[in-house]
Amino acid sequence: MSVLARARVQVLAGNVADQIAAGEVVERPASVVKELVENALDAGARAIRVELEDGGKTLIRVSDDGSGMDRDDAQLALHRHATSKIRTATDLIGVPTFGFRGEALPAIASVSRFELETCGEAEDATRLRVSGGKVDTVEDAVRQRGTTITVRGLFYNTPARRKFLRATATETRAAVEALTVLALTRADVAFALTSDGRVLLDCPPAARLIDRAHALWGGALADTLLAVSHRAGPLEVSGLVQRPAQARPAGRKGYVFVRGRPIRDPFILRAAEAGYRSTIAPGDRPSLLLFLDLPGDAVDVNVHPAKLEARFRDKFFVQQVVEEAVRAALAPLEAAAPLGVVGHQSSVIGALGSIPLELFGTDRPTTDNRHPTAPLLQLFDTYIVFPTDHAVAIVDQHSAHERVLYEDVMRQLSGDGAPAQRLLLPLTLDFAPAELDAIEAHRALLARIGYEIEPFSGRSIVVHTAPNPHPRFEAARCLQELVADLAGGRFGGWQNRLERFAATFACRAAIKAGQTWARCAS
Ligand SMILES: Nc1ncnc2c1ncn2[C@@H]1O[C@H](COP(=O)(O)OP(=O)(O)OP(=O)(O)O)[C@@H](O)[C@H]1O
Ligand SMILES: [Mg+2]
Repeated sequence: MSVLARARVQVLAGNVADQIAAGEVVERPASVVKELVENALDAGARAIRVELEDGGKTLIRVSDDGSGMDRDDAQLALHRHATSKIRTATDLIGVPTFGFRGEALPAIASVSRFELETCGEAEDATRLRVSGGKVDTVEDAVRQRGTTITVRGLFYNTPARRKFLRATATETRAAVEALTVLALTRADVAFALTSDGRVLLDCPPAARLIDRAHALWGGALADTLLAVSHRAGPLEVSGLVQRPAQARPAGRKGYVFVRGRPIRDPFILRAAEAGYRSTIAPGDRPSLLLFLDLPGDAVDVNVHPAKLEARFRDKFFVQQVVEEAVRAALAPLEAAAPLGVVGHQSSVIGALGSIPLELFGTDRPTTDNRHPTAPLLQLFDTYIVFPTDHAVAIVDQHSAHERVLYEDVMRQLSGDGAPAQRLLLPLTLDFAPAELDAIEAHRALLARIGYEIEPFSGRSIVVHTAPNPHPRFEAARCLQELVADLAGGRFGGWQNRLERFAATFACRAAIKAGQTWARCAS
């Protein structure tokens, strides 16, 4: 109280103000990657390389071949509100660059040991070293046109923030994601990321978004995407959306870009999902990459400290057009027929096949309430129906099969492994670098469930044997999904790696809603 009473109003020293700004702009290594890569793109780079050590906690380095800076500009760039991107407040309307606040570099330099090497139009290059916001060195350097910024010891002088940094793997994943988002905005620019010397992302310049999606995620996802292209009045919606049959409850990619800028907008994603109507099962989330283009004065991009949100002048119009765009993209698909709704009664009766219980595994002990000879019915290719002692049970076929497979796989993993089928024609599949790592790390487990895999060349592997849990099983697709899940590391909650692996496989391998037991059996 007494301290407050004596306090006088003062303007904060520049480096204190920068540190406070850093609190909003720089949350973790991924935010540094985002800011530096955005600057590189704004500088017209054709190739951008990111290096991380220890998830970026020890070192983050971003190198570009963009315009570079001469010495005066390089020194000025480290001052708060120093920007080359706007001059007046009206320039903010429709600003075409990622940056415009002149905040990122001083904020980052105030909480790290910062080094900037740059070479602009003139031949002579500059090296600047800054520690905790104070310039230590300005000297000559030798380099080609472009800029390299190295950020060491992030938050070394703000221990309270340092404490919030997560495990190396988590920070690495967030940084890869930050680069992935920006790599989607510019397929024509090359992006690469290495983490402790390992290549986690390597995207050559591409002509089309779908090629970029391929380089980022491999065919398992990219091959399930359809192009969107739709215009209504001033708004153009383009991008890629997932085929309904391939939508899954977990692990979807959902991205929205507004005037080329990544934006977090759950309402737009929801509007896009509404475009699927009943073609996806409740709970399934299709992958969506949506690019919205509209005049600069129809949207304000300056409403969030890290520019992650935008405000539309007419939000409802935008949502409506996004929904229409997705619906139009899906319209040609036969699969757009609603799930779970059957035209007339005779087809309902036709859909009720008689299904042998053995489809859930012949070697399973039967329990009292699962009578082995009772006929099973399949409804809408999604549910199975069987009588119990005093009632009728309706079970989601995917969940039931998943449970049975999970137990089988757990047994196989701790025993001799599963009977696999040798493929007459071995499969060759391509994967993204992170996925190849996941395959390598789980190769022994994959063999135990029946996938015998050999590295081929570059990003390809060869699959010699595959499991066969049911007759409609798609071995290649299951492997791609399983590997994407493993590489995505989305299973933090599992105690034990085997359980997690078994559960992931069981989910991917189990019969899906929409697949018919009766037809399988024939
Ligand atoms: N990689 C780079 N190549 C060339 N110039 C750069 C690079 N990075 C930064 N600059 C220059 O330094 C200035 C300051 O960068 P900084 O990121 O701090 O601000 P900004 O990008 O203008 O705005 P914001 O804070 O919104 O990102 C930029 O306006 C640009 O002129
Ligand atoms: Mg910037």
